[in-house]
Amino acid sequence: MANVVVVGAQWGDEGKGKIVDWLSERSDVIARFQGGHNAGHTLVIDGKVYKLNALPSGVVRGGKLSVIGNGVVLDPWHLVEEIAKIREQGVDISPETLMIAENTPLILPIHGELDRAREEAASKGTKIGTTGRGIGPAYEDKVGRRSVRVADLGDAATLEARVDRALQHHDPLRKGLGIEPIDRDALIAQLQEIAPEILQYAAPVWKVLGDKRKAGKRILFEGAQGALLDIDFGTYPFVTSSNVIAGQAATGVGVGPGAINYVLGIVKAYTTRVGEGPFPTELDDENGQRLGERGREFGTVTGRQRRCGWFDAALVRQTCATSGVKGIALTKLDVLDGFETLRICTGYELDGERLDYLPTAAEQQARCTPVYEDMPGWSESTEGARRWVDLPANAIKYVRRVEELIDCPVAMLSTSPEREDTILVTDPFAD
Ligand code: GDP
Ligand code: IMO
Ligand code: MG
Repeated sequence: MANVVVVGAQWGDEGKGKIVDWLSERSDVIARFQGGHNAGHTLVIDGKVYKLNALPSGVVRGGKLSVIGNGVVLDPWHLVEEIAKIREQGVDISPETLMIAENTPLILPIHGELDRAREEAASKGTKIGTTGRGIGPAYEDKVGRRSVRVADLGDAATLEARVDRALQHHDPLRKGLGIEPIDRDALIAQLQEIAPEILQYAAPVWKVLGDKRKAGKRILFEGAQGALLDIDFGTYPFVTSSNVIAGQAATGVGVGPGAINYVLGIVKAYTTRVGEGPFPTELDDENGQRLGERGREFGTVTGRQRRCGWFDAALVRQTCATSGVKGIALTKLDVLDGFETLRICTGYELDGERLDYLPTAAEQQARCTPVYEDMPGWSESTEGARRWVDLPANAIKYVRRVEELIDCPVAMLSTSPEREDTILVTDPFAD
C-alpha cells in the first residue's frame, strides 16, 4: 500500500499545507513527523481560510486520522488554543480524529523565553531569526534527556521529577541571560491543568500506525519547514533544530524506512526565505518586490516579510537528492505571470570555479555567486488553471526546464491558494 511523504524542498512556505490538504482525500492517516508550531500552513477551501501550526493539514477534511508524531515538539497550550480556533471554523476534532504520540516532547514556556532571550542577546550576524516559539531549546532538551514528554503528564510524581530535571539545567542558563528564576510550583500546576486536555489524544502512535498499515490504510507523512532548514543538510546554523528531510518521517512516528513508497517534494516556482542566513538568488530590486507582492509573501507565524528571489535549481536538485524526492509539486506558478524574463539559477561560481551545488562551509556559501539562465516569461494568466492545456506555452517551457535542471518530474502543479486549483500529473499514491 502506497504511503507518501511530503517535504518542503526549499526554505519552507512552499505550499505544503495546500498540497497535504489536497492529497489527504486519498489517504487515511495524516501524520506530522517533525517541527512544531513554528510551522504556518494556510489552506483555502471554497474561499474559507484555515491557518494551522501544530495540527496536521489533513485535519480540515474530516473523517481522517490526524497524528502528531514523536518527532514533533509540542506546545500543549498552543495546541489547545489552535484546536479551539479550528473547531470554531466548523472542523471536527476529537480523540477519534486526532492522536498524539505519548513519547512527544513538550515545549514549555521556559523554551520560548530562552529562544527569545538568546535572539535578543545575539550580536549582528549571529541572530538566527527564529520564530521565537521555543523550538530549538525544546529539541535541545530532548537530546539532553531532560524533556517533559506527553506520557509524563499522566503521573504527578513523574511530572515533578521531570520538571526538576529540566530546571536543574535551565535555571543557571536563565541566570546568565538575566531572566528571573522559574516558579517551579506554578509550572507544575500549569502542566497539571493542561494534562487532561492533551492526554485524551495520547496514544502509542507507532503501534496504531503499524496496525493501520497491516489493515491496508494509506499514510500521508506531513513535513514542516523545508530541507534547506534541516539541522544537518540546511544552511547551518541558520536552520531549524530538527531533521526536516524525508528520512525523518520514519523515526518521527515510529515506522520502518520501508513504509515510505513515494517522496513528494514541494517546490515554489521561485524562492523565499524568512529569517537570517544565506540566500544566493535573493533579489533586492523591483523583481523581488513584485514576487513578494504577487505571492503575498508574509510569514504566517511571525508576520515577517519573506525574502524573495529567483528559482534556484541547484538548491532544489540538492534537496531532491537528500530526501529521495520522486516527484515535485510545483506551486505558485501563477505568481510568475507577467514577468518578461524569468531567471533560473543553475549553479554557482566560487573562486573562478563552477559548482553545481551549494558548498557546506558558511564562508563559501556567502561568496557563491549564482549562474543564471534566462527564460522568456508569459503575459497570460495561469491563476486558477486546472488543466495542463490551459497553461501558456512559455509557462510549460518553464516547468519543463525546471524538471530538467532539478532532475525530477513534476507530479503536481498549483496555480492558486484554492484547494481545487491544482493539476495532477502523477498520483503519488498510485506510484
Ligand atoms: P507551507 O508552510 O509550505 O504550508 O506554506 P504556507 O501556507 O506558509 O505559504 C504558502 C502560501 O501560498 C499560502 O498563503 C498559500 O495559501 C499560498 N499558496 C499555495 N499554493 C499557491 C499557489 O499555487 N498560488 C498562489 N498564488 N498561492 C499559493
Ligand atoms: P513552514 O512549515 C519558513 C525558520 C525561521 C528561522 C529558522 C529557525 O511554514 O514551512 P525556529 O523557530 O524553527 O527555530 O527558526 O527557521 N522557519 C521557517 N521558515 N517556514 C517555516 O515553516 C519555518 N519554520 C521555521 O524563520 O529562520
Ligand atoms: Mg508556512
